[in-house]
Amino acid sequence: MSPEGRFCLAASAMFAAVAIAPLAAHEHATGIVKERMDGMEAIGKAMKAINARIKANRELGSIKEDALRAWELATRMPFWFPPGSNAHPSEAKSLIWQRWPDFQAKASALETELGKLAAVASTGDKKALAVQFSSVSQACGNCHELYRVRRK
Ligand code: HEC
Repeated sequence: MSPEGRFCLAASAMFAAVAIAPLAAHEHATGIVKERMDGMEAIGKAMKAINARIKANRELGSIKEDALRAWELATRMPFWFPPGSNAHPSEAKSLIWQRWPDFQAKASALETELGKLAAVASTGDKKALAVQFSSVSQACGNCHELYRVRRK
C-alpha cells in the first residue's frame, strides 16, 4: 500500500475509534492529561465535521471556522505536555520528552497544515479542500505514530 493509503487508513481508523469509544479514557484522567485529552477530542470533532462537509460538498465555507478552532487548539499543544505527564490513563509515550524538539516540530507542522486548510476553505474549492484535509490528517498521524500508544 502506498504511504498515502496508509495515512488515509490510519486517519479513518482514528476517527472511527473516536466515534466508537467516546471519552472512555477521560473518566480517570485529571489535570493537564484531561485537558489535553479534551483538547485532542475537540480537534478530532472539528476534523470529523470538516470531513463530513467535504464529502457531502456542503457548507464548504464554514469549514474555515472549524479549521481555525482546531488551529487555535493546536497552538496550545506544546503546553499540554509538561515533562513526564504520561501516567495512566495517558497514552502519551515518554519518547516525547526524549525527542522534544521533534515533538514540537510535529505540533507546529499541524498548525501550519490547519492554517492552510482555513485558507483553502475561503476558496470553497472541494478538490483542494480534500487534498489539504489529507495533509492535516497526515500531520496528526505523523505525531501519533511515534508518540502515542496504539489503541488495541
Ligand atoms: C504533536 C503531536 C500530536 C499531533 C500533531 C496530534 N496529536 Fe493527537 N495525541 C497526541 C498524543 C501524545 C496523544 C495521547 C495523549 C494522552 O493520552 O495523554 C494524542 C491523543 C489524541 C486523541 C485521544 C484523546 C483521548 O480521548 O484520549 C485524539 C482524538 C487525537 N489525539 C486527535 C488528534 C487529531 C485529530 C489530530 C490532528 C488534527 C492530532 N490528534 C494531532 C499527539 C498529537
